[in-house]
Amino acid sequence: MVKIGNIELGEFPLLLAPMEDVSDPPFRAVCKDNGADLMYTEFISSEGLIRDAIKSRKKLDIFPYEKPIGIQIFGGDEEAMAMSARIVDATQPDILDINYGCPVKKVVCKGAGAGVLRDIPLMVRLTQAVVKSTSLPVTVKTRLGWDDSSINIEEVAERLQDVGIKALSIHGRTRAQLYKGEADWTLIRKVKENPRIQIPIFGNGDIDTPEKALEYKNQYGVDGIMIGRAAIGYPWIFNEIKHFMKTGEKLAAPSMKQRIEVARKHLKFSVEWKGEKTGILEMRRHYTSYFRNIPNIKPYRQKLVEFEAYEQVDELLCEMEQEFMNAFVEA
Ligand SMILES: Cc1cc2nc3c(=O)[nH]c(=O)nc-3n(C[C@H](O)[C@H](O)[C@H](O)COP(=O)(O)O)c2cc1C
Repeated sequence: MVKIGNIELGEFPLLLAPMEDVSDPPFRAVCKDNGADLMYTEFISSEGLIRDAIKSRKKLDIFPYEKPIGIQIFGGDEEAMAMSARIVDATQPDILDINYGCPVKKVVCKGAGAGVLRDIPLMVRLTQAVVKSTSLPVTVKTRLGWDDSSINIEEVAERLQDVGIKALSIHGRTRAQLYKGEADWTLIRKVKENPRIQIPIFGNGDIDTPEKALEYKNQYGVDGIMIGRAAIGYPWIFNEIKHFMKTGEKLAAPSMKQRIEVARKHLKFSVEWKGEKTGILEMRRHYTSYFRNIPNIKPYRQKLVEFEAYEQVDELLCEMEQEFMNAFVEA
């Protein structure tokens, strides 16, 4: 049984990765329905939280059915991180996660995200400040190191465990790699095999099929797998992996009816949570993946990203359901 603090996550948990502008409550709802064992919010700026910025505060929204859920924060200032840890604590999620992996310039320039990978003493101080300011189990998500010449994940794992983190998710790339090349899981295995390491180690990077998930589970010995991009527009990935791991057989790809049902739920929740305009706009990035590999879908997809009223989009989805009722859908 994999545990983070007292939270039991089953034998081999599948985690939904934190993803900015993606891992919001509407998307998390459809991932939860389809087998995600632990989900994280997108990262939230500690500076934004303490300034009481509306955008940052809104990202704290969590719902009871999401449990167990982790809220992720980032920042490079101890005081701001401690204060925002107290704000997160009051929101009562199950876990508080710290981001030391974001490669984006605007974050790194402020000495936050993956920028902290260049300064382990600062990373230790920030983590300590957060651990001391919350009663929640604290987890960390990070990368292998800053670049190929400064890979330090083994030291990072030990130092962070020593100051009290309860699990570590490792994306098998350096900051310099951004999202290029292939994720290297060999160092993730090394961390997991270190006899000093007692906390769960979750592997992350490029898992996009049940076969790959099983292969990486066996090859790298991690305690669970975190999935990001492969879940966008395809939340079924979680149950597909679970089924394959259990039975060795692949589930059939979701039918058009299932795809539309899930897209409609996602859309409805987006509009409820963000308002009609933003909800519709931000939903557009998901349609390509929901309706990938479906013959003759293009004109419909085009309309999906043009319509501006909820009723219009919802009606179009109903129409698509009729039109594509018998469409053969490839995995
Ligand atoms: C659109 C997008 C937004 C992301 N935002 C975050 C974030 O807010 N916090 C974080 O720790 N990682 C973030 N990531 C990184 C992912 O959590 C994950 O580490 C990365 O995508 C690799 O996993 P994958 O190959 O399964 O996608 C983001 C990735 C993407 C594609």
